[in-house]
Amino acid sequence: MTVTPTRPAWPLATVPRSPAEVRGASYPDFVAMVNQTNVMPGAYATLNEWATFGRVDASSSVLEVACTTGFSSRELARITGCRAVGFDLSDDSVRLARYNHRTSAPGLDLEYFTADGATVTVKNTFTHVVVGAALGFFPDPPAMARQLAGFLTDGGHLLASPFWSDEPLPAEAESVRREVFGISSPMETYKEAMALYRGFDVMHESRHEMVQESEEEIALYCSFTVDRACAQSGVHDPEVRRAMVERLTGIRRASNLLRRHLRYSVLVLRYDAASHPARYVELF
Ligand SMILES: C[S@@+](CC[C@H](N)C(=O)[O-])C[C@H]1O[C@@H](n2cnc3c(N)ncnc32)[C@H](O)[C@@H]1O
Repeated sequence: MTVTPTRPAWPLATVPRSPAEVRGASYPDFVAMVNQTNVMPGAYATLNEWATFGRVDASSSVLEVACTTGFSSRELARITGCRAVGFDLSDDSVRLARYNHRTSAPGLDLEYFTADGATVTVKNTFTHVVVGAALGFFPDPPAMARQLAGFLTDGGHLLASPFWSDEPLPAEAESVRREVFGISSPMETYKEAMALYRGFDVMHESRHEMVQESEEEIALYCSFTVDRACAQSGVHDPEVRRAMVERLTGIRRASNLLRRHLRYSVLVLRYDAASHPARYVELF
């Protein structure tokens, strides 16, 4: 007798039944609805830089702060064999992180839980903490940044990829950042972005331009993502699918507009308990 593996059940309580429900969902609810693979700037290339320069390996324990649907922890575990824990404020994101783990990589040692970074407590410290560009999404980035050393073992590494812009954002880009992505803190300059990590040793840094996505790349990305989500969540109505593609396309175009003005750094930062939060070595 052959046993057909069963796919894990879709983890969200509601599934959209009309285009109006797709358009009316809040931004985070829509991201969850289409199981968008929410990534830090640079995606796999950043991940590989962190793994290489942060020396992440099978003996590493990783904490992913603001993990959304679990991309960084899951993919770091895939390429290095590390074990990882992630948390996020959004219960739906955490449900999807667990779902994506069970669906795509059940053999990996991963765990996700819902928590507010402002008040979260963790049982153990970690050899690596992944924060990506997530500090910018917290209402008080400096307050969250001050928490990060407490999650690390002495000599452990913080893996970050903050956005920054040395020119003030044009009004249109500023409004996209606030209205589409819900970011209320001011856009940091390079020095402001780096100051959030003051007290850590900069073991590796690379600075990057954002690349624009073409309309063809956006179209492919949106149809692949929406078709996967429809298959996973049991959406068969072509009008609902079309509304999902339209909304995701609008988000990718908005992201393109913002990308014109942003740069980001890939950082590997060491926590040295003997010197933190002081610094006795020049930055460059
Ligand atoms: C765009 S995502 C980060 C994506 C990606 N990991 C990165 O590094 O850029 C921002 C995430 O921060 C989470 N978040 C915002 N405030 C939070 C808080 N106080 N505690 C935990 N997570 C929070 C949101 O729920 C969202 O999933």
